[in-house]
Amino acid sequence: MIHTPPYRIETDRLVIRCYEPTDAPLLKDAVDSSIEHLLPWMPWARYEPQSLAAKVDLLRDFRGQFDRDENWIYGVFSRDESRQVGGSGLHPRGGPDSLEIGYFIRADSIGHGYATELTAVLTRVGFEICGLARVDVQIEPDNERSLAIPRKLGFTLEGRLRRRLEPREEGLPRVDSMLFTMLAEELAGSPCLAYDYAAYDAVGNPFR
Ligand SMILES: CC(C)(COP(=O)(O)OP(=O)(O)OC[C@H]1O[C@@H](n2cnc3c(N)ncnc32)[C@H](O)[C@@H]1OP(=O)(O)O)[C@@H](O)C(=O)NCCC(=O)NCCS
Repeated sequence: MIHTPPYRIETDRLVIRCYEPTDAPLLKDAVDSSIEHLLPWMPWARYEPQSLAAKVDLLRDFRGQFDRDENWIYGVFSRDESRQVGGSGLHPRGGPDSLEIGYFIRADSIGHGYATELTAVLTRVGFEICGLARVDVQIEPDNERSLAIPRKLGFTLEGRLRRRLEPREEGLPRVDSMLFTMLAEELAGSPCLAYDYAAYDAVGNPFR
């Protein structure tokens, strides 16, 4: 059984939280300024740019999934929440007692360690709050910048899974995936512990 993930997580430099429909302008700005950067790796980018109304609908849907404990999609914001830095999520794709972390960082904010920071903290949250047995990250074999993240956080490469990920264009074959995992007992010795966080439930009560 998975305990509901936090609605809000604060790190040194980021706020990672459940979306509100009112985040639509911030999300649109982050995505519209990053389409070329996202297109090679995020299949949804081919449908961008979207209207503000479409973004409101999308965030209502994300919010609904979060509240129903179906899928936990997070916006990643600057600490003052004036700017969206990226997107992330804890996704139930890998079977019982596991969640998979996904992420993107807006084009003008890459190279500052934000993806590493949010992945480390969501990994800790997955084990320390949700009670997971395993955290997964799946990455295309050519996405060197993304492959660096689970490698430096102490994940283990389980292998290359053939034709698992959605292709970036309709009609193309599915894309291979490099599956990285961390098991609960591996957190203690991992670099993830260097990244601290505060986490809050749906009504703002701290977890610890
Ligand atoms: C992949 C992505 C999330 C990385 O975000 P980021 O905040 O720049 O990542 P970080 O700064 O935490 O770390 C990136 C690491 O990759 C390394 N790196 C950068 N380019 C690299 C390359 N061509 N080859 C190998 N490593 C590379 C960096 O040096 C850094 O490692 P370091 O901190 O040890 O130096 C971001 O580029 C992105 O959003 N890309 C488009 C969407 C995407 O690919 N999402 C992931 C899908 S699995």
